[in-house]
Amino acid sequence: MTLRFFCLALAVALPTPAAFAQAAAPTAPVPATGVANAPSASPAARRVSDTMAERVAACVACHGAEGRATTDGYYPRIAGKPAGYLFNQLVNFREGRRDNATMRYLVSNLPDAYLREIAEHFSAQNPPYAPPQPPAASPAVLERGRVLTATGDPAKNLPACAACHGSALTGTAPAIPGLLGVPRDYLNAQFGAWSNKTRRAQSPDCMAQVASRLSAEDLGAVTAFLAAQPVPAHAAPATSAIEKLPLDCGGVPAASAANPASSAAAAKGAR
Ligand code: HEC
Ligand code: HEC
Repeated sequence: MTLRFFCLALAVALPTPAAFAQAAAPTAPVPATGVANAPSASPAARRVSDTMAERVAACVACHGAEGRATTDGYYPRIAGKPAGYLFNQLVNFREGRRDNATMRYLVSNLPDAYLREIAEHFSAQNPPYAPPQPPAASPAVLERGRVLTATGDPAKNLPACAACHGSALTGTAPAIPGLLGVPRDYLNAQFGAWSNKTRRAQSPDCMAQVASRLSAEDLGAVTAFLAAQPVPAHAAPATSAIEKLPLDCGGVPAASAANPASSAAAAKGAR
């Protein structure tokens, strides 16, 4: 943990590329070489060279080339996630609904339009996925995880993950992410964050409700199952809008509002 935070602090201290720093931190360090005085480095030339590659150079240091994630399970993949989801997250960090000091710092002064462009950039990337982690649970536990994912648990009023994250669990455009190809550590950490309210979505926060209905045991089964699944070839978020979400989710445009009395029925119906 200490090492991780030390690394985070180090990364933040690194000079960011000019274009990104210009927008993110008005006090961008000027290189100590004579380059700054060369005609090609005039403020106008620097503005012209605001390419997406420069903007996102600071991101790939942690999120991997093209946003494919690194081998450290703590840094999530951002490539190929629905653009609306990525945008919502950048806004959530900026507004303090998600609590990661580095992420918050990086987006603190960036306007919506700029964040939307970055979200669309990473959403359009499709680098290969790492193979799944070897199953870290017994067959019975993995089966419990599969059942909860596919059908939920009506007795606990828990809707199926697939009812929102897509029948293939590869997400639903525009704003619900896929659940495959995500390390178990990261999945567990997100549920922990929802439980202690250091991760919130726009209200109503459906994932906070899902988290509150999952026992620690069931959560362990679900994340063990998910992390052991391979990502299907050509995985992409489902594009057909979900007719009715089993719970209302802020930031997710709904085809029709969820019926308040329908959560249990929807969990049953997903069987
Ligand atoms: C110093 C490392 C670091 C840098 C640099 C960084 N990130 Fe992150 N990012 C993280 C970590 C760690 C998380 C997970 C935080 C958490 O668990 O809430 C994260 C989470 C995210 C998420 C949410 C992912 C999800 O699936 O919910 C997005 C989107 C994101 N980062 C985008 C970016 C972008 C865009 C940049 C560049 C402007 C960037 N990050 C730079 C470390 C970094
Ligand atoms: C009612 C719809 C709904 C259901 C049911 C649901 N989710 Fe979600 N989930 C969402 C939405 C919406 C988000 C995005 C939240 C946000 O914007 O922060 C999300 C985000 C997530 C994330 C964050 C992914 C990331 O990259 O950071 C995880 C993990 C997750 N859900 C797991 C699950 C699991 C496991 C289940 C089943 C036990 C489940 N969800 C059931 C709607 C749902």
